[in-house]
Amino acid sequence: MSTTETWISSLRYKGDHLLLLDQQQLPRHTVYINVTTIEQVWDCIKKLQVRGAPAIGIAAAFGIVLWAKANNSLPYDEFKSKLLQQKAYLAGSRPTAVNLFWALDRVTGSAEQARDTEEAVQLIEQEALFIQQEDEETCRKIGEYALTLLKNGDCLMTHCNAGGIATSRYGTALAPMYLAKEKGWDLSVYANETRPVFQGARLTAWELQQAGINVTLITDNMAAHTLKTKNIAAVIVGCDRVAANGDTANKIGTFGLALQAKALGIPFYVASPLSTIDLNTSTGDDIPIEERPAEEVTHFQGEPIAPEGVKVFNPAFDVTPHEYITAIITERGIASGNYKKQLANFFNS
Ligand code: MRU
Repeated sequence: MSTTETWISSLRYKGDHLLLLDQQQLPRHTVYINVTTIEQVWDCIKKLQVRGAPAIGIAAAFGIVLWAKANNSLPYDEFKSKLLQQKAYLAGSRPTAVNLFWALDRVTGSAEQARDTEEAVQLIEQEALFIQQEDEETCRKIGEYALTLLKNGDCLMTHCNAGGIATSRYGTALAPMYLAKEKGWDLSVYANETRPVFQGARLTAWELQQAGINVTLITDNMAAHTLKTKNIAAVIVGCDRVAANGDTANKIGTFGLALQAKALGIPFYVASPLSTIDLNTSTGDDIPIEERPAEEVTHFQGEPIAPEGVKVFNPAFDVTPHEYITAIITERGIASGNYKKQLANFFNS
């Protein structure tokens, strides 16, 4: 993908509104939602219309921008106290991806030095734009580091969607696939469909296909067999929160995939921007795991696929313990082994 080419972006900021790609409608319809209020941003995050850890953070940052612009005539003291209420409000939309809280801290923190409401609004807008830009560069660097672990001709497996539409551009786990394409490499990818809401089938398969990358879709229960029989060089996934010791929360099913990869001696890589690493969370046990509505499991496109009233457990994420992770690929380099020390070092480099 060259810089002159167009790509489908998850969010476009238009000054007084956002255009948010409705990821619930993909792959059938490519529709942008016209978002003008912070309440709409909350709703889009909750309903997975915008999803993927970095994209959630970016959307939340612009949610604060929309609110700040709509309240730019408030006296500064009132603006500051209401800003914190809005931050808490958006923080309540989803609990697991730490990028949400990270981005909210950044945009609200950027206003702390302001002398008045007008300046605060400007600083908030600047910071949100900066977060979005920076994410694109971060993803590209992750892709470059990831390529050092791969070679031309490799076949990979991925889970969920950690692609361009889950970030500003390129994605995290999918970044090496885009960069390989730029280099003329021939990488191929198995994408797990990712029940219950099919981010793999609806989003990853679609995204990679659009980019002309050799992608094959499988159902989740085909993963072990595919790993064993299709000469998979590595599994590469994204993440929602990496604890200080390297334990990693990602889409439900990731842990099972890591166990399978370990049993078969296949490297298991996590692609993670520093914005997804949470040094304040010591281990995976401390990561809050979102539970989502039962209908995601009992229904398919509005039609029931399970008996009415059946009990359902629907955790959206699981935690892969660090000992199952071969390496964590960040924009500052690759950690492998002593994650506690290496991840902390990335923040000081
Ligand atoms: O529930 P989702 O679709 O927001 O879950 C997304 C994932 O688990 C992704 O793998 C993760 O956020 C990384 S996106 C670069």
